[in-house]
Amino acid sequence: MKKSIIILILLLLIVGGGIYWFLRPKSKEAGPEMVVHGMAPGWKFSLPQGDPAQGRQWFVKLECYKCHEIKGEEFPAVAAADKGVGPDLSQMAGLHPVEFFAESIINPNAVVDADAKEKGYLGADGKSKMPDYNDILTGKELADLAAYLTSLKAQEHKAH
Ligand code: HEC
Repeated sequence: MKKSIIILILLLLIVGGGIYWFLRPKSKEAGPEMVVHGMAPGWKFSLPQGDPAQGRQWFVKLECYKCHEIKGEEFPAVAAADKGVGPDLSQMAGLHPVEFFAESIINPNAVVDADAKEKGYLGADGKSKMPDYNDILTGKELADLAAYLTSLKAQEHKAH
């Protein structure tokens, strides 16, 4: 009697273990079999390396400074009537990855602050007053401009 109970328990363990093995959660780790058409899990869009000095030239050429102040930088004077509204970008660097800045330039409406309306950032149509520059910038120029914005904090530190 005692023996058969032990055998029964052993059988249950073996069968249960087998069922668990079949239904076990599959590993979520990035195994090579999970790369689909070269796209690994956790894939992220990345820009090519940009040149901040060239990006600064675009910042001037495209007159970004008319709407955006960058402390510690000297840009052509803007008449009060020509000044637009945009956030101060001097504190932005270091807060965001370079791709975030690139997105702000090619898709200004992708991320808009919750208080954008109160700050006057939005036009009558509820969209960002910032134009997109997709017909003007090449991919390289976009990377340069984003690199310039990302570099600002470092320059500020150097000056101190
Ligand atoms: C007509 C005014 C205007 C011009 C010109 C303009 N912007 Fe903007 N920009 C804005 C406004 C308004 C916002 C805030 C709303 C938004 O996120 O789109 C903004 C947001 C941004 C942000 C996101 C800042 C944040 O809060 O995360 C970046 C980066 C930026 N602009 C870069 C540029 C660059 C680079 C140029 C030139 C190529 C440019 N802007 C030209 C008005 C302008």
